[in-house]
Amino acid sequence: MRKPLIAANWKMNTGIEEGVTLVTDILDGLKGSLSIDIALCPPFVSLQAISRLLTGTTIELGAQNMHFKERGAYTGEISASMLKTLCKYVILGHSERRQYFFETDDVVHSKVEAALAVGLIPILCVGESGEQNERGKTGEVLLGQVTAALRGIRADASLVIAYEPIWAIGTGRAATADQACSSIKVIRSAVAGLWGETIAAAIRILYGGSVTGANIAEFIRHEQVDGALVGGASLKAVEFLEIVRQTALHKSAR
Ligand code: PGA
Repeated sequence: MRKPLIAANWKMNTGIEEGVTLVTDILDGLKGSLSIDIALCPPFVSLQAISRLLTGTTIELGAQNMHFKERGAYTGEISASMLKTLCKYVILGHSERRQYFFETDDVVHSKVEAALAVGLIPILCVGESGEQNERGKTGEVLLGQVTAALRGIRADASLVIAYEPIWAIGTGRAATADQACSSIKVIRSAVAGLWGETIAAAIRILYGGSVTGANIAEFIRHEQVDGALVGGASLKAVEFLEIVRQTALHKSAR
């Protein structure tokens, strides 16, 4: 049984104080023991302050990016081992990184390898563009991205993959549950092809793209969907808590 994960991707939002307030509100609103995992991924500058707030709680911390090199003359970059002292997770290969910062499949591959090498759990993002979707290329694109990211890397059941169709990110136009489920099946079978059935059955695959408190249940009801990577809706404590609540409710009901 895979433990559900709700991960918050704050992107380039919230200063340190704002982030601290948001986390305080989330912690205040969480009731009882949690049957699911929660990860918050704030901007780098807030990691330390938020890490202190999360000490002694069951909420984990994640980063939104990292460099694949261990150290050296890479101005502005942060390595996996630097993050490891604060974080459990790191989001890698997000479509915004691929699109605006020209991250190729090869770069994403190197980052996944470097993260796993120090015991950071990658939340590897894959997803097709609107055009690829319309041309019926979704399966092919996902297979290509998963294969490029993981080929040659030692199997690791801690890896998390997020299926994030680019056309659904920040648009308010989420994929349908059917679309998410069929893409997640493609991703899981791609992992099985590389890492074997047992690992493929164990890794968590999330849906991401315009997830809200109002639509999370549609996704989470399905056995294939192990949680969500949440952008915009994770910036409001009440909304994020509703996503967490619904996930715990639906997953524990099964
Ligand atoms: P969104 O972003 O929830 O705002 O669509 C999701 C993401 O980019 O991870």
